[in-house]
Amino acid sequence: KQALNILKLKKMKQGGEPIAMVTAYDYPSARLAEEAGVDMLLVGDSLGNVVLGYDSTIPVTLDDMVYHSRTVARGAERTFIVADMPFMTYHGSLDETLRGVRRLMQEGHVHAVKMEGGAEIADTVAAVVRAGVPVLGHIGLTPQSVNQLGGYRIQGKDAKDARRLLEDAKALQEAGAFGIVLELVTEEVAAEITKLLDIPTIGIGAGRGCSGQVLVFHDLVKYTDNYREKRFVKTFADVGTQIKDGITGYVKEVKGGLFPAEQHVFGAEEGAVDGLYG
Ligand code: KIV
Ligand code: NA
Repeated sequence: KQALNILKLKKMKQGGEPIAMVTAYDYPSARLAEEAGVDMLLVGDSLGNVVLGYDSTIPVTLDDMVYHSRTVARGAERTFIVADMPFMTYHGSLDETLRGVRRLMQEGHVHAVKMEGGAEIADTVAAVVRAGVPVLGHIGLTPQSVNQLGGYRIQGKDAKDARRLLEDAKALQEAGAFGIVLELVTEEVAAEITKLLDIPTIGIGAGRGCSGQVLVFHDLVKYTDNYREKRFVKTFADVGTQIKDGITGYVKEVKGGLFPAEQHVFGAEEGAVDGLYG
């Protein structure tokens, strides 16, 4: 039913066809992204920052991810959907990890999961892949470890760090990951990793040499008011301003007695009404 699967994805990388991925968190964002022609959707735990109002991804729970995944799946029935395994749900027993994966697949209706980490989680990735679930890796800046990393910083800046990222990427490919997100990695190192691997890399703040790109929905359409500029983001629309202007206009017209007007009201002769949330 989906337009894409992990085999096609690998072919896209090998054929040099760029992969366009975006995050989605609910029915309307998923629907709009699918209609716009994205290759893959990510129900990211950036949910915590851009939808739930937390200041990191750490408070996001498995229940949050399942709930939002399900709404995304309803909005994008033809798109390959990946969901983040949230903070600390894949570092305990394998049973616990697989239980979380099962919930995202069976209750969240996604097609694959993403996990942050390199060689240290390779065994976990391999076990999930063995269970028949595609896994997307994620290395470089891994926001769930922000307190261990000492902030949101560019990764791969010195030779030792670059070598570690390369080893992590190889370990994830070896474990069966179908792709790897590279977040805030220098362009040079991200390109080197991409060349080394058979599986695609999906970059965010990782330069032009990746097999594809991913951006956070709210960043790329500027869907917030206290928007913080990020250099790796390009804003392709400014819906935050449009929404605020729309609501400002509504408030003004209600206060000014201009809305509702003649065409919005009913007389006794009217019957059924379309467009209600019945
Ligand atoms: O949660 C998220 O949005 C992500 C992307 C930034 C890759 O993990
Ligand atoms: Na994430």
